[in-house]
Amino acid sequence: MDVGTQQMYEDIKNVLKKHRQSHLLAFWDQLDTVQRQRLLSQIRQLDLAKIDGWVADYVKKPSSDAIRGDLLPAPFYSLRPSDNKQKRKYAEAVKLGQHLIRQGKVAAFVVAGGQGTRLGFDGPKGDFPISPVKNKTLFQIFAEYIAAASKKYNTVCPWYIMTSPLNRARTEEIFRSNNYYGLDEKDVFIFQQGTIPNFSPDGKVLLADKANLSSSPDGHGGSLKALYQSGAIDDMKRRGVEFISYFQVDNPLINIFDPLFIGLHALDKAEMSSRAVIKTGPYEKVGNFCLADGRLNIIEYSDLPDELAERQNPDGSLTFKLGSIAIHIINRAFAERLNTDGFSLPLHRALKKILHIDEHGEPVEPNGVKLETFVFDAVPLASKSIILETLRPEEFAPTKNAAGVDSVVTARKMMVARAASWLESAGLTVPKKPDGSIDCVIEIAPGFALGKEDIKEKLNQIPQINPDDEIYLT
Ligand code: UTP
Repeated sequence: MDVGTQQMYEDIKNVLKKHRQSHLLAFWDQLDTVQRQRLLSQIRQLDLAKIDGWVADYVKKPSSDAIRGDLLPAPFYSLRPSDNKQKRKYAEAVKLGQHLIRQGKVAAFVVAGGQGTRLGFDGPKGDFPISPVKNKTLFQIFAEYIAAASKKYNTVCPWYIMTSPLNRARTEEIFRSNNYYGLDEKDVFIFQQGTIPNFSPDGKVLLADKANLSSSPDGHGGSLKALYQSGAIDDMKRRGVEFISYFQVDNPLINIFDPLFIGLHALDKAEMSSRAVIKTGPYEKVGNFCLADGRLNIIEYSDLPDELAERQNPDGSLTFKLGSIAIHIINRAFAERLNTDGFSLPLHRALKKILHIDEHGEPVEPNGVKLETFVFDAVPLASKSIILETLRPEEFAPTKNAAGVDSVVTARKMMVARAASWLESAGLTVPKKPDGSIDCVIEIAPGFALGKEDIKEKLNQIPQINPDDEIYLT
Protein backbone atom coordinates (compact mmCIF):
# COMPACT_ATOMS: atom_id res chain seq x y z
CA MET A 1 0.00 0.00 0.00
CA ASP A 2 1.47 3.39 -0.92
CA VAL A 3 1.94 6.02 1.77
CA GLY A 4 -1.02 8.12 0.58
CA THR A 5 -3.49 5.21 0.64
CA GLN A 6 -2.09 4.03 3.99
CA GLN A 7 -2.66 7.49 5.49
CA MET A 8 -6.17 7.70 4.04
CA TYR A 9 -6.93 4.24 5.39
CA GLU A 10 -5.76 5.21 8.90
CA ASP A 11 -7.82 8.44 8.85
CA ILE A 12 -10.96 6.68 7.64
CA LYS A 13 -10.50 3.88 10.14
CA ASN A 14 -10.47 6.40 12.99
CA VAL A 15 -13.51 8.25 11.69
CA LEU A 16 -15.45 5.01 11.20
CA LYS A 17 -14.64 3.96 14.76
CA LYS A 18 -16.06 7.22 16.06
CA HIS A 19 -19.30 6.57 14.16
CA ARG A 20 -19.50 2.86 15.06
CA GLN A 21 -19.10 1.72 11.44
CA SER A 22 -15.64 0.05 11.71
CA HIS A 23 -16.96 -3.20 10.19
CA LEU A 24 -16.82 -1.56 6.74
CA LEU A 25 -13.06 -2.21 6.70
CA ALA A 26 -13.31 -5.75 8.10
CA PHE A 27 -12.12 -7.38 4.87
CA TRP A 28 -9.43 -4.81 4.03
CA ASP A 29 -6.60 -7.34 4.15
CA GLN A 30 -8.32 -9.47 1.50
CA LEU A 31 -8.74 -6.64 -1.04
CA ASP A 32 -6.46 -5.77 -3.92
CA THR A 33 -5.33 -2.20 -4.61
CA VAL A 34 -8.20 -1.32 -6.93
CA GLN A 35 -10.82 -2.72 -4.55
CA ARG A 36 -9.26 -0.83 -1.64
CA GLN A 37 -9.40 2.46 -3.48
CA ARG A 38 -12.97 1.84 -4.53
CA LEU A 39 -14.05 1.06 -1.00
CA LEU A 40 -12.28 4.08 0.47
CA SER A 41 -13.84 6.32 -2.13
CA GLN A 42 -17.34 4.97 -1.34
CA ILE A 43 -16.81 5.45 2.40
CA ARG A 44 -15.51 8.99 1.88
CA GLN A 45 -18.74 9.86 0.13
CA LEU A 46 -20.76 8.97 3.23
CA ASP A 47 -21.86 11.85 5.41
CA LEU A 48 -21.28 9.97 8.66
CA ALA A 49 -22.64 12.69 10.94
CA LYS A 50 -25.87 12.67 8.91
CA ILE A 51 -25.91 8.88 9.01
CA ASP A 52 -25.70 8.95 12.84
CA GLY A 53 -28.86 11.06 12.78
CA TRP A 54 -30.62 8.70 10.34
CA VAL A 55 -29.72 5.70 12.47
CA ALA A 56 -31.17 7.33 15.58
CA ASP A 57 -34.23 8.86 13.93
CA TYR A 58 -35.23 6.29 11.33
CA VAL A 59 -33.25 3.03 11.28
CA LYS A 60 -33.71 2.09 14.90
CA LYS A 61 -37.24 3.49 15.11
CA PRO A 62 -39.62 0.84 13.83
CA SER A 63 -42.74 3.00 13.78
CA SER A 64 -43.35 6.10 11.75
CA ASP A 65 -43.73 9.54 13.24
CA ALA A 66 -46.96 10.36 15.00
CA ILE A 67 -49.25 12.60 13.01
CA ARG A 68 -48.99 16.15 14.24
CA GLY A 69 -51.98 18.42 14.74
CA ASP A 70 -55.59 17.90 13.69
CA LEU A 71 -56.25 16.32 10.34
CA LEU A 72 -59.04 17.53 8.11
CA PRO A 73 -60.09 16.29 4.68
CA ALA A 74 -58.51 18.28 1.85
CA PRO A 75 -60.58 20.43 -0.52
CA PHE A 76 -60.45 19.31 -4.15
CA TYR A 77 -61.79 19.89 -7.63
CA SER A 78 -64.28 17.15 -8.48
CA LEU A 79 -64.48 15.33 -11.72
CA ARG A 80 -67.34 17.50 -12.88
CA PRO A 81 -67.74 21.19 -12.05
CA SER A 82 -70.11 21.75 -9.15
CA ASP A 83 -71.89 24.87 -10.47
CA ASN A 84 -71.95 27.24 -13.42
CA LYS A 85 -69.15 29.39 -12.10
CA GLN A 86 -66.92 26.35 -11.79
CA LYS A 87 -68.05 25.13 -15.19
CA ARG A 88 -66.73 28.34 -16.69
CA LYS A 89 -63.48 27.91 -14.74
CA TYR A 90 -63.01 24.35 -16.04
CA ALA A 91 -63.61 25.54 -19.61
CA GLU A 92 -61.09 28.34 -19.17
CA ALA A 93 -58.60 25.87 -17.63
CA VAL A 94 -58.88 23.49 -20.58
CA LYS A 95 -58.15 26.34 -22.97
CA LEU A 96 -55.20 27.52 -20.90
CA GLY A 97 -53.85 23.98 -20.53
CA GLN A 98 -54.03 23.43 -24.29
CA HIS A 99 -52.31 26.75 -24.85
CA LEU A 100 -49.46 25.87 -22.44
CA ILE A 101 -48.91 22.48 -24.07
CA ARG A 102 -48.92 24.06 -27.52
CA GLN A 103 -46.34 26.61 -26.37
CA GLY A 104 -44.00 23.78 -25.32
CA LYS A 105 -44.24 24.78 -21.67
CA VAL A 106 -45.10 21.31 -20.38
CA ALA A 107 -42.64 18.40 -20.15
CA ALA A 108 -43.26 14.73 -19.45
CA PHE A 109 -41.37 13.29 -16.51
CA VAL A 110 -41.40 9.62 -15.60
CA VAL A 111 -39.74 8.24 -12.50
CA ALA A 112 -38.27 4.89 -13.47
CA GLY A 113 -35.52 4.39 -10.92
CA GLY A 114 -37.35 1.88 -8.72
CA GLN A 115 -36.19 -1.68 -8.28
CA GLY A 116 -39.54 -3.23 -9.21
CA THR A 117 -38.93 -6.13 -6.84
CA ARG A 118 -42.60 -7.06 -6.57
CA LEU A 119 -42.98 -7.45 -10.33
CA GLY A 120 -39.94 -9.75 -10.40
CA PHE A 121 -39.01 -8.70 -13.95
CA ASP A 122 -35.38 -8.92 -14.98
CA GLY A 123 -34.73 -5.43 -16.31
CA PRO A 124 -36.06 -1.89 -15.99
CA LYS A 125 -39.82 -1.94 -15.40
CA GLY A 126 -40.36 0.39 -18.35
CA ASP A 127 -39.26 -2.44 -20.63
CA PHE A 128 -42.06 -4.69 -19.42
CA PRO A 129 -44.40 -5.69 -22.28
CA ILE A 130 -47.92 -4.82 -21.22
CA SER A 131 -50.27 -3.74 -23.99
CA PRO A 132 -53.07 -6.25 -24.57
CA VAL A 133 -52.75 -6.86 -28.33
CA LYS A 134 -49.32 -5.66 -29.47
CA ASN A 135 -47.48 -6.36 -26.22
CA LYS A 136 -45.91 -2.91 -26.31
CA THR A 137 -43.68 -2.05 -23.39
CA LEU A 138 -44.50 0.70 -20.90
CA PHE A 139 -41.73 2.89 -22.36
CA GLN A 140 -43.15 2.43 -25.85
CA ILE A 141 -46.66 3.36 -24.75
CA PHE A 142 -45.40 6.57 -23.11
CA ALA A 143 -43.21 7.40 -26.12
CA GLU A 144 -46.16 6.96 -28.50
CA TYR A 145 -48.33 9.11 -26.23
CA ILE A 146 -45.69 11.88 -26.23
CA ALA A 147 -45.28 11.66 -30.02
CA ALA A 148 -49.05 11.81 -30.53
CA ALA A 149 -49.45 14.77 -28.16
CA SER A 150 -46.57 16.61 -29.86
CA LYS A 151 -48.35 16.10 -33.17
CA LYS A 152 -51.79 17.06 -31.86
CA TYR A 153 -50.48 20.29 -30.33
CA ASN A 154 -47.95 20.95 -33.07
CA THR A 155 -45.11 21.24 -30.61
CA VAL A 156 -42.23 19.28 -29.11
CA CYS A 157 -42.94 17.77 -25.73
CA PRO A 158 -39.61 16.83 -24.14
CA TRP A 159 -39.42 13.71 -22.01
CA TYR A 160 -37.31 13.41 -18.85
CA ILE A 161 -36.66 9.93 -17.49
CA MET A 162 -35.26 9.31 -14.04
CA THR A 163 -33.32 6.07 -13.61
CA SER A 164 -31.07 4.86 -10.81
CA PRO A 165 -27.44 3.75 -10.80
CA LEU A 166 -28.86 0.21 -10.91
CA ASN A 167 -30.77 0.59 -14.18
CA ARG A 168 -29.48 3.67 -15.98
CA ALA A 169 -27.11 1.91 -18.40
CA ARG A 170 -29.70 -0.73 -19.26
CA THR A 171 -32.41 1.90 -19.77
CA GLU A 172 -30.17 3.92 -22.09
CA GLU A 173 -29.39 0.78 -24.03
CA ILE A 174 -33.10 -0.02 -24.38
CA PHE A 175 -33.83 3.45 -25.74
CA ARG A 176 -30.89 3.28 -28.14
CA SER A 177 -31.78 -0.15 -29.45
CA ASN A 178 -35.39 0.91 -29.95
CA ASN A 179 -34.31 4.03 -31.77
CA TYR A 180 -35.92 6.14 -29.04
CA TYR A 181 -39.27 4.72 -30.16
CA GLY A 182 -39.36 7.23 -32.99
CA LEU A 183 -38.76 10.27 -30.79
CA ASP A 184 -35.86 12.59 -31.43
CA GLU A 185 -32.99 11.53 -29.16
CA LYS A 186 -32.32 15.14 -28.21
CA ASP A 187 -35.82 15.45 -26.74
CA VAL A 188 -35.30 12.48 -24.41
CA PHE A 189 -33.25 13.25 -21.30
CA ILE A 190 -32.24 10.22 -19.25
CA PHE A 191 -30.60 10.85 -15.89
CA GLN A 192 -30.08 9.10 -12.60
CA GLN A 193 -31.12 9.62 -9.01
CA GLY A 194 -29.00 9.34 -5.86
CA THR A 195 -28.65 6.42 -3.48
CA ILE A 196 -28.82 5.88 0.27
CA PRO A 197 -26.89 3.15 2.09
CA ASN A 198 -28.79 0.15 3.40
CA PHE A 199 -28.58 -0.61 7.10
CA SER A 200 -28.84 -3.54 9.44
CA PRO A 201 -31.72 -3.03 11.90
CA ASP A 202 -29.14 -2.06 14.55
CA GLY A 203 -27.76 0.77 12.43
CA LYS A 204 -24.71 -0.67 10.67
CA VAL A 205 -24.19 0.29 7.01
CA LEU A 206 -24.35 -2.98 5.04
CA LEU A 207 -21.67 -4.26 2.70
CA ALA A 208 -22.86 -5.64 -0.66
CA ASP A 209 -19.58 -7.54 -0.88
CA LYS A 210 -16.16 -7.19 0.69
CA ALA A 211 -15.28 -4.12 -1.38
CA ASN A 212 -18.62 -2.37 -1.92
CA LEU A 213 -21.25 -0.74 0.25
CA SER A 214 -24.84 -1.84 -0.15
CA SER A 215 -27.17 0.96 -1.21
CA SER A 216 -30.60 1.54 -2.75
CA PRO A 217 -32.05 4.33 -4.89
CA ASP A 218 -33.19 7.20 -2.64
CA GLY A 219 -36.90 6.90 -3.48
CA HIS A 220 -39.05 8.84 -5.96
CA GLY A 221 -38.57 11.87 -3.71
CA GLY A 222 -34.98 11.80 -4.94
CA SER A 223 -36.34 13.08 -8.25
CA LEU A 224 -36.53 16.66 -7.00
CA LYS A 225 -32.78 16.76 -6.29
CA ALA A 226 -31.86 14.65 -9.30
CA LEU A 227 -33.78 16.90 -11.71
CA TYR A 228 -31.63 19.77 -10.53
CA GLN A 229 -28.27 18.03 -10.17
CA SER A 230 -28.51 16.24 -13.52
CA GLY A 231 -28.99 19.47 -15.44
CA ALA A 232 -32.57 18.52 -16.41
CA ILE A 233 -33.89 21.73 -14.86
CA ASP A 234 -31.38 23.76 -16.88
CA ASP A 235 -32.41 21.90 -20.00
CA MET A 236 -36.06 22.74 -19.24
CA LYS A 237 -35.19 26.39 -18.73
CA ARG A 238 -33.39 26.51 -22.04
CA ARG A 239 -36.47 25.07 -23.73
CA GLY A 240 -38.92 27.32 -21.90
CA VAL A 241 -40.56 24.44 -19.99
CA GLU A 242 -42.47 25.71 -16.95
CA PHE A 243 -44.53 22.72 -15.89
CA ILE A 244 -43.37 19.17 -15.23
CA SER A 245 -45.96 16.41 -15.67
CA TYR A 246 -44.79 13.78 -13.18
CA PHE A 247 -45.88 10.13 -13.43
CA GLN A 248 -44.75 6.64 -12.51
CA VAL A 249 -43.35 4.08 -14.89
CA ASP A 250 -45.87 1.44 -13.84
CA ASN A 251 -49.07 3.21 -14.94
CA PRO A 252 -49.91 2.44 -18.59
CA LEU A 253 -53.15 4.47 -18.39
CA ILE A 254 -51.42 7.77 -17.60
CA ASN A 255 -52.86 10.78 -19.39
CA ILE A 256 -49.56 12.66 -19.50
CA PHE A 257 -50.82 15.97 -20.85
CA ASP A 258 -54.26 16.70 -19.45
CA PRO A 259 -55.22 20.28 -20.36
CA LEU A 260 -57.78 20.52 -17.52
CA PHE A 261 -55.29 19.51 -14.83
CA ILE A 262 -52.50 21.67 -16.22
CA GLY A 263 -54.87 24.60 -16.71
CA LEU A 264 -56.42 24.48 -13.21
CA HIS A 265 -52.94 24.23 -11.71
CA ALA A 266 -51.77 27.26 -13.68
CA LEU A 267 -54.95 29.32 -13.12
CA ASP A 268 -54.67 28.79 -9.37
CA LYS A 269 -50.96 29.64 -9.43
CA ALA A 270 -50.14 26.37 -7.71
CA GLU A 271 -46.58 25.09 -7.35
CA MET A 272 -47.21 21.37 -7.02
CA SER A 273 -50.57 19.72 -7.66
CA SER A 274 -51.95 16.21 -7.54
CA ARG A 275 -54.58 13.96 -9.06
CA ALA A 276 -56.74 11.89 -6.76
CA VAL A 277 -59.20 9.01 -6.94
CA ILE A 278 -61.97 8.13 -4.53
CA LYS A 279 -60.59 5.32 -2.38
CA THR A 280 -62.13 1.87 -2.68
CA GLY A 281 -62.27 1.56 1.11
CA PRO A 282 -60.84 2.99 4.32
CA TYR A 283 -57.62 0.98 4.10
CA GLU A 284 -56.77 1.11 0.42
CA LYS A 285 -52.99 1.27 0.10
CA VAL A 286 -52.74 4.78 -1.30
CA GLY A 287 -51.66 8.07 0.28
CA ASN A 288 -54.43 10.14 1.89
CA PHE A 289 -54.88 13.82 1.12
CA CYS A 290 -55.31 15.66 4.42
CA LEU A 291 -55.01 19.16 5.75
CA ALA A 292 -52.61 19.10 8.71
CA ASP A 293 -52.44 22.42 10.54
CA GLY A 294 -53.90 24.04 7.45
CA ARG A 295 -51.30 22.64 5.03
CA LEU A 296 -51.97 20.00 2.45
CA ASN A 297 -50.18 16.75 3.21
CA ILE A 298 -50.31 13.28 1.72
CA ILE A 299 -50.30 10.82 4.55
CA GLU A 300 -49.41 7.20 3.89
CA TYR A 301 -52.15 4.65 4.48
CA SER A 302 -50.05 3.04 7.18
CA ASP A 303 -49.75 6.35 9.04
CA LEU A 304 -53.43 7.33 9.03
CA PRO A 305 -54.99 6.33 12.38
CA ASP A 306 -57.80 3.74 11.97
CA GLU A 307 -60.34 6.07 13.52
CA LEU A 308 -59.68 8.67 10.82
CA ALA A 309 -59.45 6.10 8.02
CA GLU A 310 -62.91 4.80 8.95
CA ARG A 311 -64.56 8.12 9.77
CA GLN A 312 -67.67 8.75 7.68
CA ASN A 313 -69.65 11.75 6.50
CA PRO A 314 -73.39 11.86 7.28
CA ASP A 315 -74.09 10.37 3.82
CA GLY A 316 -71.92 7.33 4.61
CA SER A 317 -69.00 8.32 2.38
CA LEU A 318 -65.50 8.27 3.85
CA THR A 319 -64.39 11.59 5.33
CA PHE A 320 -60.85 10.97 4.10
CA LYS A 321 -61.88 9.61 0.75
CA LEU A 322 -59.20 11.00 -1.55
CA GLY A 323 -56.37 8.68 -2.51
CA SER A 324 -53.16 9.81 -4.19
CA ILE A 325 -52.22 8.12 -7.47
CA ALA A 326 -48.76 9.62 -7.84
CA ILE A 327 -49.62 11.99 -10.67
CA HIS A 328 -48.46 15.55 -10.18
CA ILE A 329 -47.79 18.81 -11.94
CA ILE A 330 -44.64 20.35 -10.52
CA ASN A 331 -43.51 23.84 -11.45
CA ARG A 332 -39.99 23.86 -12.82
CA ALA A 333 -39.34 27.00 -10.76
CA PHE A 334 -40.56 25.23 -7.59
CA ALA A 335 -38.16 22.32 -8.11
CA GLU A 336 -35.39 24.82 -8.71
CA ARG A 337 -36.23 26.90 -5.63
CA LEU A 338 -36.25 23.85 -3.36
CA ASN A 339 -32.71 23.07 -4.47
CA THR A 340 -31.30 26.56 -4.28
CA ASP A 341 -32.88 27.04 -0.82
CA GLY A 342 -31.44 23.72 0.35
CA PHE A 343 -34.26 21.35 1.25
CA SER A 344 -34.60 17.83 2.52
CA LEU A 345 -37.55 15.48 2.51
CA PRO A 346 -38.26 13.18 5.46
CA LEU A 347 -37.01 9.62 5.20
CA HIS A 348 -39.32 6.61 5.29
CA ARG A 349 -38.12 3.31 6.64
CA ALA A 350 -38.89 -0.07 5.07
CA LEU A 351 -37.74 -3.46 6.25
CA LYS A 352 -36.77 -5.38 3.09
CA LYS A 353 -34.88 -8.47 2.11
CA ILE A 354 -31.48 -7.06 1.14
CA LEU A 355 -28.68 -9.19 -0.23
CA HIS A 356 -25.44 -8.35 1.61
CA ILE A 357 -22.53 -10.07 3.32
CA ASP A 358 -22.40 -11.00 6.98
CA GLU A 359 -19.49 -10.60 9.37
CA HIS A 360 -17.85 -13.69 7.88
CA GLY A 361 -18.04 -12.29 4.36
CA GLU A 362 -20.79 -14.76 3.37
CA PRO A 363 -23.72 -13.57 1.22
CA VAL A 364 -27.01 -13.53 3.15
CA GLU A 365 -30.47 -12.16 2.46
CA PRO A 366 -32.12 -11.36 5.74
CA ASN A 367 -34.00 -8.17 6.44
CA GLY A 368 -32.21 -4.88 6.17
CA VAL A 369 -33.47 -1.33 6.47
CA LYS A 370 -34.04 0.66 3.30
CA LEU A 371 -34.53 4.41 3.69
CA GLU A 372 -36.24 6.42 0.98
CA THR A 373 -37.90 9.74 0.30
CA PHE A 374 -41.33 10.20 -1.28
CA VAL A 375 -42.10 12.90 -3.82
CA PHE A 376 -45.47 13.72 -2.24
CA ASP A 377 -43.66 14.98 0.88
CA ALA A 378 -42.80 18.03 -1.23
CA VAL A 379 -46.50 18.98 -1.46
CA PRO A 380 -46.54 20.80 1.92
CA LEU A 381 -43.50 22.79 0.77
CA ALA A 382 -45.48 24.31 -2.10
CA SER A 383 -47.00 27.75 -1.55
CA LYS A 384 -50.18 26.53 -3.29
CA SER A 385 -51.38 23.11 -4.31
CA ILE A 386 -54.56 21.86 -5.91
CA ILE A 387 -56.11 18.41 -6.17
CA LEU A 388 -58.15 17.26 -9.14
CA GLU A 389 -60.25 14.12 -8.94
CA THR A 390 -59.99 11.62 -11.76
CA LEU A 391 -61.75 8.40 -12.62
CA ARG A 392 -59.64 5.39 -11.71
CA PRO A 393 -60.55 3.34 -14.83
CA GLU A 394 -59.52 6.27 -17.02
CA GLU A 395 -56.13 6.97 -15.59
CA PHE A 396 -54.72 4.60 -13.00
CA ALA A 397 -53.61 1.01 -13.55
CA PRO A 398 -50.72 0.41 -11.15
CA THR A 399 -48.60 -2.50 -12.34
CA LYS A 400 -46.86 -3.59 -9.18
CA ASN A 401 -47.17 -7.39 -9.12
CA ALA A 402 -46.98 -10.23 -11.63
CA ALA A 403 -50.45 -11.50 -10.63
CA GLY A 404 -53.28 -10.66 -8.23
CA VAL A 405 -54.08 -7.09 -7.17
CA ASP A 406 -52.40 -4.19 -8.96
CA SER A 407 -50.78 -6.58 -11.36
CA VAL A 408 -49.95 -7.08 -15.00
CA VAL A 409 -53.25 -8.97 -15.28
CA THR A 410 -55.40 -6.20 -13.81
CA ALA A 411 -53.54 -3.51 -15.78
CA ARG A 412 -54.16 -5.30 -19.11
CA LYS A 413 -57.80 -5.75 -18.21
CA MET A 414 -58.08 -2.07 -17.40
CA MET A 415 -56.45 -1.12 -20.70
CA VAL A 416 -59.04 -3.15 -22.60
CA ALA A 417 -61.87 -1.81 -20.43
CA ARG A 418 -60.83 1.80 -21.05
CA ALA A 419 -60.56 1.23 -24.78
CA ALA A 420 -64.04 -0.38 -24.76
CA SER A 421 -65.52 2.50 -22.79
CA TRP A 422 -64.07 5.05 -25.23
CA LEU A 423 -65.64 3.19 -28.15
CA GLU A 424 -68.97 2.87 -26.35
CA SER A 425 -68.98 6.56 -25.51
CA ALA A 426 -68.75 7.21 -29.26
CA GLY A 427 -71.86 5.07 -29.76
CA LEU A 428 -70.14 1.84 -30.87
CA THR A 429 -71.06 -1.61 -29.63
CA VAL A 430 -68.51 -3.74 -27.83
CA PRO A 431 -69.32 -7.46 -27.46
CA LYS A 432 -70.02 -8.55 -23.91
CA LYS A 433 -70.44 -11.94 -22.24
CA PRO A 434 -73.70 -12.72 -20.42
CA ASP A 435 -72.07 -11.65 -17.13
CA GLY A 436 -71.33 -8.20 -18.64
CA SER A 437 -67.58 -8.70 -19.04
CA ILE A 438 -65.92 -7.65 -22.29
CA ASP A 439 -65.77 -10.44 -24.87
CA CYS A 440 -62.90 -9.20 -27.07
CA VAL A 441 -59.45 -7.64 -26.76
CA ILE A 442 -59.04 -4.04 -27.87
CA GLU A 443 -55.93 -1.91 -27.95
CA ILE A 444 -56.00 1.73 -29.00
CA ALA A 445 -52.63 3.20 -30.00
CA PRO A 446 -52.01 6.70 -28.60
CA GLY A 447 -51.56 7.84 -32.22
CA PHE A 448 -55.17 6.83 -32.88
CA ALA A 449 -56.70 8.50 -29.84
CA LEU A 450 -55.34 10.18 -26.72
CA GLY A 451 -58.77 10.33 -25.16
CA LYS A 452 -62.36 9.45 -25.88
CA GLU A 453 -62.92 12.80 -27.57
CA ASP A 454 -60.57 11.71 -30.38
CA ILE A 455 -62.61 8.57 -31.17
CA LYS A 456 -65.59 10.44 -32.60
CA GLU A 457 -63.45 11.80 -35.44
CA LYS A 458 -62.31 8.32 -36.47
CA LEU A 459 -65.53 6.33 -36.45
CA ASN A 460 -65.12 5.37 -40.11
CA GLN A 461 -61.78 3.69 -39.33
CA ILE A 462 -63.20 1.39 -36.68
CA PRO A 463 -64.38 -2.05 -37.85
CA GLN A 464 -67.34 -3.86 -36.39
CA ILE A 465 -66.14 -5.83 -33.36
CA ASN A 466 -67.29 -9.43 -32.93
CA PRO A 467 -67.00 -11.69 -29.89
CA ASP A 468 -63.47 -13.02 -29.39
CA ASP A 469 -61.92 -10.47 -31.80
CA GLU A 470 -58.52 -8.94 -31.19
CA ILE A 471 -58.67 -5.37 -32.42
CA TYR A 472 -55.78 -2.95 -32.70
CA LEU A 473 -56.66 0.61 -33.61
CA THR A 474 -53.75 2.58 -34.99
P1 UTP B 1 -42.65 1.76 -6.17
O1 UTP B 1 -42.94 2.37 -4.87
O2 UTP B 1 -43.69 0.91 -6.77
O3 UTP B 1 -41.28 0.98 -6.04
O4 UTP B 1 -42.26 2.92 -7.16
P2 UTP B 1 -40.51 0.04 -7.05
O5 UTP B 1 -39.09 0.07 -6.57
O6 UTP B 1 -40.72 0.41 -8.48
O7 UTP B 1 -41.15 -1.39 -6.86
P3 UTP B 1 -41.01 -2.43 -5.66
O8 UTP B 1 -41.55 -1.74 -4.45
O9 UTP B 1 -39.54 -2.78 -5.53
O10 UTP B 1 -41.84 -3.58 -6.11
C1 UTP B 1 -43.22 3.81 -7.67
C2 UTP B 1 -42.57 4.60 -8.79
O11 UTP B 1 -41.47 5.33 -8.29
C3 UTP B 1 -40.30 4.99 -9.02
C4 UTP B 1 -40.57 3.62 -9.60
O12 UTP B 1 -39.74 3.37 -10.71
C5 UTP B 1 -42.04 3.74 -9.93
O13 UTP B 1 -42.23 4.45 -11.13
N1 UTP B 1 -39.16 5.00 -8.09
C6 UTP B 1 -39.25 4.36 -6.91
C7 UTP B 1 -38.02 5.64 -8.47
O14 UTP B 1 -37.93 6.23 -9.57
N2 UTP B 1 -36.96 5.63 -7.61
C8 UTP B 1 -37.01 5.01 -6.42
O15 UTP B 1 -36.00 5.06 -5.68
C9 UTP B 1 -38.19 4.35 -6.05
